[in-house]
This record gives sequence, C-alpha cells and structure tokens, in this order.
Amino acid sequence: MAEGLGIEPRITESKSVVIPFNYPPTIFFIKYCMNILDILYTPLDVPPQPKYQIKDLRNWLTENYGPLARYKNVFSGSRIAAERTVENYPWDLTVAYFNMTDTGPGWLNGFDKKFPELSKYMYEAFGLPLEEVGLIIFLPMREKHKGLGFWHNDTDIAGLRLFLEIEDLEKNKLYIRRMKVPYDIRPNIPLPMDEKKYLQDEVFECKILSSTQCHFLNNIRAAHATYTEDLGTNRIAAFVTCKMDNQKKFFDLVKPLILQSAEKYKDHIITWEPEVAPPEGFEPS
Ligand SMILES: [Fe+2]
Repeated sequence: MAEGLGIEPRITESKSVVIPFNYPPTIFFIKYCMNILDILYTPLDVPPQPKYQIKDLRNWLTENYGPLARYKNVFSGSRIAAERTVENYPWDLTVAYFNMTDTGPGWLNGFDKKFPELSKYMYEAFGLPLEEVGLIIFLPMREKHKGLGFWHNDTDIAGLRLFLEIEDLEKNKLYIRRMKVPYDIRPNIPLPMDEKKYLQDEVFECKILSSTQCHFLNNIRAAHATYTEDLGTNRIAAFVTCKMDNQKKFFDLVKPLILQSAEKYKDHIITWEPEVAPPEGFEPS
C-alpha cells in the first residue's frame, strides 16, 4: 500500500484520530466556531437512496462511457489531463447530466427516464433545485484498476459525493491527506501532485458508513485518493457539481447540510489541523 507513495504514510481511521486540541469537536464548536473549510470529510445526513436495479446502472454506464465521452472534454482540463497522464487512473468517468452554461442538454441518453427516482434523488437529497446543477458524473471503477488511485483535489468546492455501490468496504477505501497550508481558495496543483510540497504526511481513512452513503469531500484544504484491493470490483461513486458561474451560490446552498452533518457524524469527520512537528530530541517509543 505504501509502495509508490514516496512517503511512509500513517493510516488513521477518522474515528480514532487523536488530536490534542478540541478533538473530537463538540457540537458547539462545529456550529459556532469551526470554519467550514476545516471540515475535510463528513458523511452527509441525507435520506436513503431510492430502490433501482444496480445492474441496470452498471449497464447504462458501460454502454454510455464511449458515446458520452465528449462531455468530459468540456469541464476542467486537469481532470481530463489526469485521465491521460496519471498512471493507473481509476475510473471510466461518465457524465449523466450536463448543463454547465445553462444551455443544456440536461440529462443525457435518457438517464432520467431509465432511473426516474435516482435522477431526482441526486440533487434533491442535497436540497438543490436542478436549475443550480451543472454536472452529474459517475465514476465506476475501471475493470483493470486496483491499488492506490492518485492524490488530487477535485475542481468543485462544494464536494458533494455519492457512493452507488461498494462491493466490499474492507477492500475499498477512501483516503484523505491534509494540505500543508490552510488555503481559502482551491489551489490548482499540477498532477501528479508534488506530495512533499503540498500534503501533510498523515493519511486518514474516511469512515464509510454504508456502500450507498453520500458525503462531503473538501477540495481546498485536502486531497484524496481511492484504494481498491482487487481487480474488477464493483464500486461506483458520483459527484454533483455547480454550473460555470454559480460556484459560490451552490456552495452556500449546501453549507447548512454540511455543517449539520458534521455535527451528527462528529465522531467520523476529518478536520484540518496544522502539521505538528515533534519537539526537538523527541524519540518515538
Ligand atoms: Fe476525486
């Protein structure tokens, strides 16, 4: 697991992090004192996903990966660049909804007809009207991928994510590392990321509460990477993001949900803290 990381990561499950000051944070602290940018990961307190046939979703994604590829080319150069340049890129990324500039086309290749309840859930669960959504993208794990994905921070700041399925939570992980600097604006870090320059050493394992959970991922003060143990695992994530021009409004709309969820799941959240250097002469026992 540590191979290729270029560091000796210490893996810490989000439940058991020990940080001397104010950790785990009290509800009062989260509600009144915490900067939302310091919340790096929290499960989201949303209703359960509707029932549908997961096999149908897998098939839709397989069938549309090629035909819908052109929609990927429109957003974020870095993501596409990552697909081309990052070794062992994890996903067959497929866009299901596209309305980046208010000119449509909206749902692609009949996704909303095929999955009427799921398509509604994907924005309603976060309290969002569809008019504010720019992209809904699925990230099924590639058949030929295994191991650690790559450290990156996605381009959206609202960081709304869903898992549609994870075959085995013991063998499929989501890792987070804190940025060294508590940025207020998302840093545009070239890929592959210079980990020594930008990321703290400690690796946190996000506590995934269920294989169909929704969560928030901070792309400003943290980077993340997937890990999957076996080839051909069934693992599908998705993200829901803003349009070109409504990033701030979109984030403002979901901030209350993120904060309230961080209160509810306070034992599982991961927060930003500065890197603490051991005192001089300190010898770990
Ligand atoms: Fe990501």
